[in-house]
Amino acid sequence: MRHLMSPLDLSVKELDDLLDLANDIENNPKKYAHACEGKKLATCFYEPSTRTRLSFEAAMLNLGGSVLGFSSADSSSAAKGESVSDTIRVISCYADICAMRHPKEGAPLVASQKSTIPVINAGDGGHQHPTQTLTDLLTIRSLKGKLDHMTIGLCGDLKFGRTVHSLINALIRYPGIRFILISPEELRIPDYIREDVLRKNNIPFEEVERLDDAMPNLDILYMTRVQRERFFNEEDYIRLKDYYVLTKQKLSLAKDDMYVLHPLPRVNEISVEVDDDPRAAYFKQAQYGVYVRMALILTLLELA
Ligand code: CP
Repeated sequence: MRHLMSPLDLSVKELDDLLDLANDIENNPKKYAHACEGKKLATCFYEPSTRTRLSFEAAMLNLGGSVLGFSSADSSSAAKGESVSDTIRVISCYADICAMRHPKEGAPLVASQKSTIPVINAGDGGHQHPTQTLTDLLTIRSLKGKLDHMTIGLCGDLKFGRTVHSLINALIRYPGIRFILISPEELRIPDYIREDVLRKNNIPFEEVERLDDAMPNLDILYMTRVQRERFFNEEDYIRLKDYYVLTKQKLSLAKDDMYVLHPLPRVNEISVEVDDDPRAAYFKQAQYGVYVRMALILTLLELA
């Protein structure tokens, strides 16, 4: 039995196979319409979500399976003090696979150690969000035709943005990847990513504050929201929340074949006027999230 806690739990070969499967699902949805008949997915979300929870549920329904779960800690027995370990032991009696989101880093890992069904980390605090990374990789590969030899701009809250941490970990395994890390001083990537992931693996990167300067060099611009829920004080959030706003004017500095990704939800960091630009790929990205989660469910249930 396998769990998914980090994108690194999959080898590059396994990742490529999973993305191939997701593309096949996209092109031949009927072929997979009954693949999970009789199987149940539990979505245990201790933290708010629209895309991750609903795309997991859509994925399982598209595969002919069923879903059950809770969408907030308050509506589960966590509100009465039940531990994640006890909860997953019980969920293991009810479902065949579980997707778990939790505000505490490492909670899905703790759950996986007591679980008798595969557990998928659907986002743990400011740590990792591996299925968003699978979504991002599928989007990039589908749009650019490759995952190597590109300059990737990561912009915004690089400190608390778990999607950025997972994406860096995944992309460094492909040759010729270079990062431009665009953030205010206070929201730079954590030291462990800079030292233990980027420097240790000799990955070329620069850290800059101005989006305009970076824009002409990028193949992908990955925008992120300032993570209000992880700030200790509201004043800092208000000061930093609109630090970057991608407008049409800023986008005019980019290459014609650059794509803008965003894990969503967005607040103000991408102006709605950008949505109609053919390079705006963030809603397409949300659709890819369903295909890749279908592929992941099939893989972890050994039905692929
Ligand atoms: N991208 C993402 O994780 O969105 P949700 O918080 O809506 O699940």
